[in-house]
Formats: sequence, C-alpha cells, structure tokens
Amino acid sequence: MRNADGLLALLTDRIDAELIERSPRLRAIANYAVGVDNIDLDAARRRGIPVGNTPDVLTEATADLAFALLLAAARRLPEAIADVEAGEWRTWEPGRWLGAEVHGAAIGIIGYGRIGRAVAERARGFAMRVLHTGPDGVPLERLLAEADFVTLHCPLTPETRHLINASALSLMKRSAILINTARGPIVDQRALVEALREGRIAGAALDVTDPEPPAPGDPLLDAPNLLVTPHIGSATRAARERMAQLAVENLLAALDGQPMPHQVV
Ligand code: DGY
Repeated sequence: MRNADGLLALLTDRIDAELIERSPRLRAIANYAVGVDNIDLDAARRRGIPVGNTPDVLTEATADLAFALLLAAARRLPEAIADVEAGEWRTWEPGRWLGAEVHGAAIGIIGYGRIGRAVAERARGFAMRVLHTGPDGVPLERLLAEADFVTLHCPLTPETRHLINASALSLMKRSAILINTARGPIVDQRALVEALREGRIAGAALDVTDPEPPAPGDPLLDAPNLLVTPHIGSATRAARERMAQLAVENLLAALDGQPMPHQVV
C-alpha cells in the first residue's frame, strides 16, 4: 500500500488504522460489499479518505438467500437430501422429516433497512406476521419472544456485536429458528452452540460465521439442527457484477476528485 492511490477491498480484507496510516498516498477506499465493518471508518475520516460501498444491488439477492435458508431450515431440506443420497428413502413415512410450518408463522426481522424490508415483502407473500425492530417496530425482547423465525439484517457495529447472546437466545421460543445473513459476530456463537445442543431453540441457518470460515474442529460445525452456507448472500451473477461495477465507479470517482456515487465516509 506504500505506493497505492486507491484501494479496492473485499470484506475479508481488514483495513485498519495501521494500514491506513502506512498508505501515505491513499485517496480512495472502495469496498466490494455493502457492509463496511472491515474498515476503520474513523481512521479514514481522520485522513479525509472517502470510503465507498455497494448498496441496493445485492438487496434482493440477500433477501432471497435469507428466505431460502428460512425455508431450508424450517423444512429440514439438508437432512432430507442427505437421507435420499444415503439411500434412506425407503417409503413415504407419516412421521419422518417433519418440519415447521412457514405460512402464517411470525417472523422477527432485526435490522429493518433495505434488506430487512425486502425480507418482509417475501414474508408477506407467505402470510407471515411481520415483527421488526426500529423506530416504528417493536422492542427487541418482544420480537424475540413472539417470532417463530428470527432473521438478522443489521450492520455489525460495537452496539450489535453479540446482540444475539445467551440472554437473547433464552427469550426465543423453543420452536424458533435463527437465520443470519448479516455478519457472524452479531451472534455470540458459543451461546448459539449451547442453545442448539440443549434444544433451547429449534435450529439455526447461518450464511455468516465468526470467524469465516469456521476453523476445523470448531464446535459450531458439530452443533445439531444447524445449517451453514459459505457467505453467499450476494452470490448471484447479476448482483456480483453490479457490486463490481459500483465499487469501481466509487474508486474512479474519488481518484478523479469527485464524490463517490455511494460514499459512507
Ligand atoms: C456485503 O456486501 O456486505 C455482503 O455481505 C456480501 O455478500
């Protein structure tokens, strides 16, 4: 970075104060992501370096994935598919592979921004009762206590780190399923593993973990009723292309002395 004027970063690159301080020529940071928790925004602000992100273009793709995880966990798809592959499908069994009803259930959306609202739209198509946080929403405790599905769509900040900890999990219904397509550290993973092991919630579906990927032998990977995907919320061809386009537009604008089209700092 000693000679770089601009930086195009992935969400897996940690752009901390030290890196920023050691980049004397740096004039632009473009993140190839909407989340900017990997960047020390205060350090960039102090140096007057604009930081850009890629909002909107991945909203629908991420909401689709959240809903896909919700359905997969509710209807135990990974387990059913694995059983078919293992030759376990012998006949139609009235009491096997039973899951939770999605239609008409209550969904609790934590973080009611662009993606949270897009999930709500999908939920209404399933006649779900939508509870959400935010100024016109309900208190977090009520949401946790009433929701059959709790889905996370808030950014990772010091305030939301471990928002879903042991005490939050203890407020959830025993039949509830947690979905996380936001950022891994919003969930206290140890507390989640314990809750799953003890059957204090029915299941979880995570597209993001802490760390990513989980280290081999991480107890998360042995937790029951858990499904994990490898951070693929925005992984449609169209969304990734548009993210690349926006990230480059942000970078070039700032290097040209113009405001970034999507500037966070
Ligand atoms: C983002 O852009 O922040 C997403 O996590 C990428 O899928």
